Amino acid sequence: MPSSTSVRVFETAKEVARVAAEQFVELAHRAAAEHGRFAVALAGGNTPRQMYQVLAGDPFRNQIDWKSVHLFFGDERCVPHDHADSNYRMAFDTLISQVDIPVSNLHAIKGEGDPTANATSYDAELRAFFPDLPKPRFDLVLLGLGDDGHTASLFPHTDALRATAEWVVANWVEKLREHRITLTAPAINGAANVTFAVVGAGKAPAVAEVLGGPTQPERLPVQMIKPEAGTLTWLLDSAAASRLPKPPSPLAVHVAERPEDDNED
Ligand code: 6PG
Repeated sequence: MPSSTSVRVFETAKEVARVAAEQFVELAHRAAAEHGRFAVALAGGNTPRQMYQVLAGDPFRNQIDWKSVHLFFGDERCVPHDHADSNYRMAFDTLISQVDIPVSNLHAIKGEGDPTANATSYDAELRAFFPDLPKPRFDLVLLGLGDDGHTASLFPHTDALRATAEWVVANWVEKLREHRITLTAPAINGAANVTFAVVGAGKAPAVAEVLGGPTQPERLPVQMIKPEAGTLTWLLDSAAASRLPKPPSPLAVHVAERPEDDNED
């Protein structure tokens, strides 16, 4: 189970981006001090754009020693890195191209070619970076939430949900009619810190189901994410949190312990 779980709600998506950037900086300093490097797996999709732009701007950019930062990806689409759908391209445009990070610290997932071969190759890269560990020990994994309850490319009712030994798999996603490459739930759960950043009213039903509903990981794969020895943080704007039970008092509006899954399987 996570060492701590917190659900923090903020008025705007801009505040969520700022708080996520503040946590990134804090964890980067801590990791660099503790073991000389900060290994972070970036989220894809659109939500993280604002956070990456905040990180790439003042004052955050100069608060980070980018030479100690290693950027990985939680998942990738099977397209070239210059394709509009590429998670790497999104991160490059918003963050990587704006900061002084060594190329050798960029650990992109190859999108072109055979998905299974690319997943196997990334799995091996992670095992080389985190040698002699049962799971990758990312200092931070950033994640988003799809309105269908997926995270990374762990989509409902897909084979990737059943991976136990692999750290990275190719996953056929029928609803998209495409392969994705993704970290597995066990790999994500090895992290020291996992943070979800979720904004917008469109995500409110999924947020309410995931955090307050019964545990149904096959239908809501994000419920598989429970860092075994790490923190779990949900950063929500008020729109995404709008279907959650209202906190008991205004004082609790920013930090509320996650209701324990009383329907644990
Ligand atoms: C991806 C992401 C995916 C994303 C959610 C939310 O590759 O798309 O890894 O899990 O976080 O789909 O996407 P938005 O932030 O665009 O709503």
